[in-house]
Amino acid sequence: MDFTTLKGRSFLAEKEFSREEFLTFIELAEKLKDEKKKGITHRHLEGKNIALLFEKPSTRTRCAFTVACIDLGAHPEYLGKDDIQLGKKESIEDTAKVLGRMFDGIEFRGFEHKKVQMLAEHSGVPVWNGLTDMWHPTQTLADFLTVKENFGKLEGIKFVYVGDGRNNVANSLLVGGALVGMDVRIASPESLFPEQDVVELAKEYAAQSGGKVTITSNVDEAVAGADVIYTDVWVSMGEEDKFAERISLLSPYQVNMEMVKKTGNNDMIFLHCLPAFHDLETAYGRDINEKHGLPEMEVTDEVFRSNHSKVFDQAENRMHTIKAVMAATLGNL
Ligand code: CP
Ligand code: NVA
Repeated sequence: MDFTTLKGRSFLAEKEFSREEFLTFIELAEKLKDEKKKGITHRHLEGKNIALLFEKPSTRTRCAFTVACIDLGAHPEYLGKDDIQLGKKESIEDTAKVLGRMFDGIEFRGFEHKKVQMLAEHSGVPVWNGLTDMWHPTQTLADFLTVKENFGKLEGIKFVYVGDGRNNVANSLLVGGALVGMDVRIASPESLFPEQDVVELAKEYAAQSGGKVTITSNVDEAVAGADVIYTDVWVSMGEEDKFAERISLLSPYQVNMEMVKKTGNNDMIFLHCLPAFHDLETAYGRDINEKHGLPEMEVTDEVFRSNHSKVFDQAENRMHTIKAVMAATLGNL
């Protein structure tokens, strides 16, 4: 593995990396996962201090960064939305300069992608995107590691994303999938198709990698022969007033056993970045069911709990891949 072009870099979006660089993160994650399972330590960030900035809630991303930091010998410091002045009483530029004087690396989860770009521009240390409204690139790495573990490869995999086709996860999977040579298909209502510039970018990558990009509102066409069906919540963080609208648009795109059967592929896997609305065990889920009579949303409980579902492997892989990103960009490998 060659890390020379990754050292000192930020990790903000898939589009900033070559195919080889992106695959290097996944290979390193495989190695680090194997070492962790064998109890081999890998303290590549010994003595470093890492700031974890969160403007939105998180379970997986926060825990993955925290555990990965500690496994790598670094100290993580969580800074929630009410803990610092970021953009409220101090400009992002000034905060970035201060954080860069004290920390060796910064993770950011928030709303506008511009903020994470400004942190990277002004802090002078590697900045890692833990999700913005536009991209969720550490999720893509975990998802592709999970695909590789199940199919032994990424190239040519028929990867179908069904649901809100223009959210952060869809954007990232579309561009990331095209970058590594997958047959990426987005199935969503036309009003939720990804932005044209994201589609164009993905098509450019697909032309170079031998991948393929399809954007369609036709579910049957999209899922035929699928290796992977992926979905995400119908309403992302910050859009909570859109439940009624999205339910009416996206109900035909629910991942259920009928859709799984339409793939014609018994070995297909189901992926979801999580959290998922697959039952009534959440306050949101119960509220939606009361108002709209919908006991499950983007995926049925049956599919979520089926043997096709690899969602918890995927969640674990967040940690191994985030560790790889930090080690490759900041570590002494
Ligand atoms: N998938 C994901 O990013 O989960 P969290 O929101 O819990 O971090
Ligand atoms: N699209 C979702 C992803 C959560 C991990 C959101 O932004 O809320």
